[in-house]
Amino acid sequence: MNLNLKLSLALIAGSMMAVSCGGSGSSSSESTSSTTPPPAPEPAQEISLEEKYKDDPVFIRGVELMKQNDCPSCHMIERKIVGPSYADVAAKYESTDENVEMLAGRVIAGNVGVWGEIPMPAHPALAKEDAEDMVRYVLLLKK
Ligand code: HEC
Repeated sequence: MNLNLKLSLALIAGSMMAVSCGGSGSSSSESTSSTTPPPAPEPAQEISLEEKYKDDPVFIRGVELMKQNDCPSCHMIERKIVGPSYADVAAKYESTDENVEMLAGRVIAGNVGVWGEIPMPAHPALAKEDAEDMVRYVLLLKK
């Protein structure tokens, strides 16, 4: 047996050893099939419209203007008193420029017959821009 053959046999034996040693430990890990059900959805919280929109600049501006006017004596956000609730008005009209202008005109001139027989008095001292800001606030209050 010559030296070359001896060497190659040793190499083969060595590589076989490596294979047999390294091939262990591949025992299939048991798949834990404990499927946890998805968490139950949170119960839908009833938040007030005030809570929902309180951080909106349109809301903040509207509240400020209304406080300086008589609107709160006849209107509430979610309850009809003398006039319709703002939520009802918001549900009736899209908040478009045309509607804002039209409703601001009614607030200034007064109106009757849309919501019933009780008239809304005129607000002739109101600036058009302020009336529009208040109407934008009213129409923001959608559920
Ligand atoms: C004296 C009570 C009273 C006051 C004060 C009052 N409103 Fe009204 N408002 C009403 C009544 C009543 C109606 C319903 C009129 C109708 O049926 O046409 C109404 C209707 C409205 C509407 C809906 C109009 C439409 O055509 O659908 C808006 C918007 C509105 N008011 C905003 C205001 C704002 C803003 C102020 C404050 C500047 C104000 N109101 C002050 C009684 C009032």
